[in-house]
Amino acid sequence: MDICVIGAGYVGLVTSCSLAHLGHRVVVVEADKNKLAKLKEGIVPFYEPGVADLLAEHGNGEMLSFSDSIPDSVAQSEIIFIAVGTPSLPSGEPDMSQVVAVAKSIGAALDTTRRRLVVNKSTVPVGSGNWVEMLVNQGKQASVQTVPTRGTRTDVPQFAVVSNPEFLREGSALHDTFYPDRIVVGSSDPNAIDRMRELYRPLVEQTFVPPAVAPRPPDFTDVPFVCTDVASAEMIKYSANAFLAMKISFANEMAGICEKVGADIREVALGIGLDRRIGVSFLNAGVGWGGSCFGKDVNALIEVAREYSSPTPLLEATISVNKNQRLAAIKKLQEDLKIIKGRTIALLGLAFKPNTDDLRDAPSLTIAAQLQKMGAQVRAYDPVAMDACARLHPELNIHYCTDIYDLASDADALVVVTEWEEFDRIDWQQIVKVMKWPLVIDGRNCLVEQELVDQGLIYRGIGH
Ligand SMILES: NC(=O)c1ccc[n+]([C@@H]2O[C@H](COP(=O)([O-])OP(=O)(O)OC[C@H]3O[C@@H](n4cnc5c(N)ncnc54)[C@H](O)[C@@H]3O)[C@@H](O)[C@H]2O)c1
Repeated sequence: MDICVIGAGYVGLVTSCSLAHLGHRVVVVEADKNKLAKLKEGIVPFYEPGVADLLAEHGNGEMLSFSDSIPDSVAQSEIIFIAVGTPSLPSGEPDMSQVVAVAKSIGAALDTTRRRLVVNKSTVPVGSGNWVEMLVNQGKQASVQTVPTRGTRTDVPQFAVVSNPEFLREGSALHDTFYPDRIVVGSSDPNAIDRMRELYRPLVEQTFVPPAVAPRPPDFTDVPFVCTDVASAEMIKYSANAFLAMKISFANEMAGICEKVGADIREVALGIGLDRRIGVSFLNAGVGWGGSCFGKDVNALIEVAREYSSPTPLLEATISVNKNQRLAAIKKLQEDLKIIKGRTIALLGLAFKPNTDDLRDAPSLTIAAQLQKMGAQVRAYDPVAMDACARLHPELNIHYCTDIYDLASDADALVVVTEWEEFDRIDWQQIVKVMKWPLVIDGRNCLVEQELVDQGLIYRGIGH
């Protein structure tokens, strides 16, 4: 099928590479000139494992090409994905300006050669499907006279709007795209659902040859294809993220109680997670969740509910527990160091999670800002996110280190903020020799306590 994906961010580019791998012809439209130039040269403008390999495999112009023109790309496509950003506004509502601009441009670019699908992959508030339809129509009206929304006339462009929320996780985006837990498609148009099923058939039936960078897990056979209405599809995305964020906040609240009563949250999380009704994932206590989606989507859901006077105490608590949790590491520093002013605090990790350079709403930013405010010198090491942090957050005055040992030199404390795999291989014998004070705060509960204690380090975890 001929596909157009608008927006080459984490979602748009991963979707495009994956659809090209499934055998579809994909043109990706990107407005950012620097990103576009890089993509045309075969360079992925962000860090996401495996994407560069897929781009090298398919980005030869035949199956996967890049453009700055919505009209040209829409003209050659039957399915048009909207994959632009919907960041939070200060009010908590999502900023929909990118979606508005794109929907209108699509409308203006539609012609009568075929009936198209406009598929929303961006995370948008409930009700946006109808709104996108209205915006596409507005764009259409600017270029065509007298336009019925769903008429049978053949002299006006025809289209249907579909909601197809994205569930990929940064850091394992390709795996999640090729082997998803489900594909959700919302539309009131049965023909649109059929075409989406056709688009995703190789994924649903798992008939494609797995790319080398994302091998098929053993026993993975097929993918549930969930067809629903647009509002329910939009609501599925928001409630999935709200539930996951709530699960982590729940674990963090339990971690606080565990510390008081002398229990260990790691044991508690395992003990409750083995109950299949609960599940072990997303129960890791630590310095809280972050990233471009959880906070933004939970806040957006609260705003939608507010419009309908529907109470959201669970969602609000999810946010407030997380806000406090980000400062858990600082409380532990205060307990051991007493005075923070004048101390050198070393952050192990900056990205909001491992295997990405994404810093959106990362706990590291809150922690670094608070430490600066308290008069500490902050230094950091992250395998991939230091350039992005220096570029996007010069106000944090972080000193960036060349490696973990450089980071630890003369530091009063090390704080693990991101659980990068390479931190499993730290030589603690070397670290203890160079630190000014041998304190390690394991903000992700990812280190082996005994290994540190054996080398004479003071270890503090979260919730144990
Ligand atoms: N990142 C994730 O893990 C994730 C997961 C699931 C869903 N989502 C949702 O998917 C959407 C996209 O997220 P993302 O992280 O990929 O965002 P992003 O900010 O990384 O990428 C968006 C891209 O769209 C481009 N763009 C904006 N306006 C454009 C226009 N008019 N024409 C062409 N390109 C344009 C931007 O330049 C940018 O490259 C958001 O709504 C997000 O909530 C994200």
